Amino acid sequence: MHKYFFILGRSPKLAQAEIESILPTLPGEYRIAESADDVLLLDLKIFGENGFQLKNFMKKLGGTIKVGKIIDEVENKNQATNTLTPERLLKKYLPQKEQKITFGFSLYSAGNSFSKSFQKDLAKTGIQIKIGLKKEGLKARFVTSKDKALSSVIVGENKLVERGADICIFFAKEKIYIGKTIAVQDYKSFSKFDYGRPRADAKSGMLPPKIARIMVNLAQTKPDEILLDPFCGSGTVLQEALLLGTKKVIGSDISRKAVDDTNKNLEWLGSEVDINESNYQILHSDVRELSKILKQKVDVIVTEPFLGPPLRGSESINHLQQNVKELSKLYIESFQVFQKILKENGKIVIVLPVFKKDNQEFPILIIDDIRKLGFKLKSSSESSKRGGYLYSRPDQRVMREIFILSGKSS
Ligand SMILES: C[S@@+](CC[C@H](N)C(=O)[O-])C[C@H]1O[C@@H](n2cnc3c(N)ncnc32)[C@H](O)[C@@H]1O
Repeated sequence: MHKYFFILGRSPKLAQAEIESILPTLPGEYRIAESADDVLLLDLKIFGENGFQLKNFMKKLGGTIKVGKIIDEVENKNQATNTLTPERLLKKYLPQKEQKITFGFSLYSAGNSFSKSFQKDLAKTGIQIKIGLKKEGLKARFVTSKDKALSSVIVGENKLVERGADICIFFAKEKIYIGKTIAVQDYKSFSKFDYGRPRADAKSGMLPPKIARIMVNLAQTKPDEILLDPFCGSGTVLQEALLLGTKKVIGSDISRKAVDDTNKNLEWLGSEVDINESNYQILHSDVRELSKILKQKVDVIVTEPFLGPPLRGSESINHLQQNVKELSKLYIESFQVFQKILKENGKIVIVLPVFKKDNQEFPILIIDDIRKLGFKLKSSSESSKRGGYLYSRPDQRVMREIFILSGKSS
């Protein structure tokens, strides 16, 4: 087994849950070695030595920023900087010895005050390595940034994976691990399938494709399963499911415009990747009427439902409580329909909103009602007190909480 690291994005617990839902579906063995803030360390036996399989795995993920292989384990900061020598860089970290060597350091999960001084030490080490390489007749470039870690964009633009090294250093419970990045999140592709789409609807809220992808992965959707999004909006969930290889997706929405938007967006997707009209079907329906028009049962439901009218921030607490009440009713009625259209043991991954005002949270408390309908909540010790995974930015008035549920078993 080798140790590999996963640098987790905005919501590390959600990103970890995504990784853990895909790993069991891959051949091989794995064990979680450690998780420290934004880093997950895994012992893996499934990936090729050259990291090709790891690169493919990375392409599936929405919540992970970088993946790589651990090369060195040391006890303290001095040992870490002493380990990083020109010789070791050439022998263990670089893909091949080239005339011009590019390298940089990325520091993770080190407390802020702790990392400031270490960041300075690393900068000195980088310069020393550069001087050492020059003495050997090699040209060297040391890539730096104002942040503790080099971003996926900097790593990508400087070809630090293909032609150099992004050396990642992170502090775990008792050790410092040093590794090299093998793949970074494909930011160009995420951007294209987000902003490149012909239709968007800022008014009804847009689910970022990365979250949609995490949700499809959390549902452990298999290629031959039918996935439904009954509040499809502009089709983000459907797009990500198709990009991940789901052969048949069904979308539905109460709004004619949303149905048109989704059709246009998926038509465009078909001009970019190998999918066509036989892979998707878009229906125009209120979720509460869906069981009457849907021709077959579905394996998986992944959705971000209607989250209420857009908020300005000036709404009273009463207003937010009324929102919660109306949405709770809609969601429970939706689950009554899901009961009829979801196959036995089917999965549901759904966003529920948590409204925020003056540091007070107004969540949708319907999990007990949903349980009474026969659905089981899949939560882990890593999820929130309500059993979901929170995803939000500090300034957001509506936080997203993602729940994973399974339908009735036989
Ligand atoms: C938050 S948006 C979904 C966004 C979508 N996930 C996306 O990224 O494009 C919610 C959608 O629910 C639809 N909607 C609202 N009430 C509905 C209902 N009762 N039945 C079905 N769709 C409904 C709205 O028209 C809107 O398109």
